[in-house]
Amino acid sequence: MKTIIEPFKIKAVEPIRMTTPDERQGLLAAAGYNPFLLRSDDVLIDLLTDSGTSAMSAEQWAAVMRGDESYAGSRSFERFEASVRDVVGFTHIIPTHQGRAAERILFSCMCAKGDVVPNNTHFDTTRANIEHVGAEAVDLVITEGTQPATLHPFKGNMDVPALEALIERVGAARIPLCMLTVTNNSGGGQPVSLQNVREVREVLRPHGIPLYIDACRFAENCYFIKLREPGQSHRRVKDIARELFSLADGCTMSAKKDAFANIGGFLATNDSALARQERDLLILTEGFPTYGGLAGRDLDAIAVGIQEVLDEDYLRYRMASTAYLGEHISAAGVPIVLPPGGHAIYIDARGFLPHVPPEELPGQSIVAELYLEAGIRSVEIGTVMFGRTDPNTGREIPGAMDLVRLALPRRVYTQSHVDYVVEAILAVFARRSSIRGMRIVEQSPHLRHFSARFAWR
Ligand SMILES: Cc1ncc(COP(=O)(O)O)c(C=O)c1O
Repeated sequence: MKTIIEPFKIKAVEPIRMTTPDERQGLLAAAGYNPFLLRSDDVLIDLLTDSGTSAMSAEQWAAVMRGDESYAGSRSFERFEASVRDVVGFTHIIPTHQGRAAERILFSCMCAKGDVVPNNTHFDTTRANIEHVGAEAVDLVITEGTQPATLHPFKGNMDVPALEALIERVGAARIPLCMLTVTNNSGGGQPVSLQNVREVREVLRPHGIPLYIDACRFAENCYFIKLREPGQSHRRVKDIARELFSLADGCTMSAKKDAFANIGGFLATNDSALARQERDLLILTEGFPTYGGLAGRDLDAIAVGIQEVLDEDYLRYRMASTAYLGEHISAAGVPIVLPPGGHAIYIDARGFLPHVPPEELPGQSIVAELYLEAGIRSVEIGTVMFGRTDPNTGREIPGAMDLVRLALPRRVYTQSHVDYVVEAILAVFARRSSIRGMRIVEQSPHLRHFSARFAWR
């Protein structure tokens, strides 16, 4: 059969409240044209994020009921630890309430002021946690990874010569660890090849620099390896994942992505002395090492989810549905980051609205229009998120790219929902020449995209 179906049946449903274009005009204006400030009830299709928005399976809900809420040494922790270790293979598995808590503990223990941490591309919380301890976060993705239209099977790869040059320039003593984000969220959800992980490891090994994986979307990354990397097509995704983790010294993970959990994460390492330090810090801010800020039921949901995500029928459908959205809008001329990534499609807003310069926030205009057209919530990843207002001129200093991210929650929307999204994007694209830019009328000094308010120009 050529048709790839959702490999699940729907047992519980959550109604979508329909809204009219007139209603949406009022709702968006009241939210200052910022979709973060909309109520979820006023959104028809929510593509704001794939984080914590997955539909849990019947097995996960059953596991929730088995949750053991004992403060210490719970059965839930035992199941969580065994299941996570089965996938990642590391000696110490430390639960945290989400990914950024694992990052904070890792960098607090491993980094000091003046240190440098390379990554293909740091996710914003990863970068912020590194900078919080006074270290520098350096992005070393390959050149193709920064060019939206360039095709490459592994656009998330690290630029290995650039890593060598960095070690040469700053010295290995100032690099306490190197990270690889799989898939590369800030770089369009693009995968990293197994070969690249091996090469990075070979460069780090003589210097004794540990390699950590930001594993949020490890299963999607490993499925791309199976599809695209020579010699990998016959292997189980689980075996590819085991090899990937075996090349590293530890990992951080937000279980809100590829473990289908609504909350949770973990930190893992083979270094016993480090693990002890990390657990001490965990107790200070997250909780006892056998729950780490989570309820027993959350640990059980993760224990089941991290195995379920390795189901290859699921991964085939997941990649096919993301590619379906990307290919349908791209075939009609909508510029997107190519090839489609694992969890999201990224519209190139500068190509979509060439008459709106970056300082007039073309990504934010598209985000607003998608909501007005069809009640779709997306997010700008560009000048609003990474640029800033020049305090002297009041003009916007643009980010490197202006993208609109359409992130697909896991197991939540069906093909007809995606068809609806395609129709809406094409309708907005058809009237693109009449779409105006936006300006910021109110913003906070930090992470302004969450709360800024906008107006049309
Ligand atoms: C690549 C990457 N790393 C880290 C995080 C942080 O995870 P959390 O939101 O659970 O704190 C995210 C979240 O989106 C992510 O995409």
